[in-house]
Amino acid sequence: MGTYRVEIHADAFARLKTMAEDVQRGLGARPRWLPPKYFYDARGSQLFDEITRLPEYYLTRVEDALLATHGPALVRELQPRDLVELGSGFSVKTRRLLAAGAEAGARLRYTPVDVDAETVAAAARVLMTAHPALDVHAVIGDFERHLVHVPPPVGRRLVLFLGSTIGNLDPPARENLLAQVRDLLGPDDQLLLGVDLVKDVAVLERAYDDAAGVTRAFNRNVLTVINRALGADFEPGAFRHHVRYDGMADRIEMHLVADTPQTVRVPALGLRVELEAGESIWTESSYKFTRPSVETMLAAAGLRLERWLTDPRDWFALVVAGVAPRAA
Ligand code: SAH
Ligand code: TRP
Repeated sequence: MGTYRVEIHADAFARLKTMAEDVQRGLGARPRWLPPKYFYDARGSQLFDEITRLPEYYLTRVEDALLATHGPALVRELQPRDLVELGSGFSVKTRRLLAAGAEAGARLRYTPVDVDAETVAAAARVLMTAHPALDVHAVIGDFERHLVHVPPPVGRRLVLFLGSTIGNLDPPARENLLAQVRDLLGPDDQLLLGVDLVKDVAVLERAYDDAAGVTRAFNRNVLTVINRALGADFEPGAFRHHVRYDGMADRIEMHLVADTPQTVRVPALGLRVELEAGESIWTESSYKFTRPSVETMLAAAGLRLERWLTDPRDWFALVVAGVAPRAA
């Protein structure tokens, strides 16, 4: 039987404190913003799971198909023993790699790193039922702050960062994160990164503004999370879901627009925010990539692109990267 361990680094108090600081800074800034990691409470993870099944949201389907096509050969070739996954969520796509690893007969340890404890626990149950020999060592925390708690490798390591979650970080933050990922890797280890690619703007905007309104509910959920945690009195229904593509920065932006003036109180912070009609809160970016932009981003963190796997329409890419040799 495999073993199961959980380490919790995002304790409720620390999380609340960080959230308070983020909300204070973000709501006080112009343009106003909120950090996207607060989308993911239990309901947010559930809504995200629904997003992955929307007809407009091609990312998950295309990435999953790439993993189905290339996963088995990658696992045979890289022979990982130690899988670490950042922002693992329900670990749905990971199952493809674990299945391929099980076929190869390797005993694997899986270290999911995610802020949402309930989702990780549910994912671990499913994985361990399917793979009784799997060891799971979950790290509940913020992948921007708690990667130092990833346990030392038990063998060849593969770090997974899927779903284009890297695109939700702005350039300085992702460079910082990738440099930390690099420190998790030895010379024979790899990073498997999923990135969404620059494409037709209409396709991109639809993926974040679906007809059924699931993404709208997901976007507004960040206000519900802040209401509950900090006692704020946002009225989520008073905010319109707005999506635009910035072609200069290659990013989708998600906003919540107050169509009528809104006064929001955050008692825990002694904060009162007045939003004028038409003012928005920027809640998320989702950067889109090209092969050259990925190579540049990797190089800045001391990593180098080893494989570039994409679908026939060039909509999404799986990138295998390794540690770049240090310049002499
Ligand atoms: N990898 C899955 C889930 C992507 S959704 C997929 O590709 O479908 C993004 C996941 O990252 C969520 O599970 C969310 O809880 C997690 N997440 C977002 N920001 C995080 C952060 N700063 N630290 C840790 N986990 C984070
Ligand atoms: N990494 C995903 C993306 O950028 C996260 C995501 C999907 C998302 N849909 C969303 C984030 C809607 C916020 C809102 O596509």
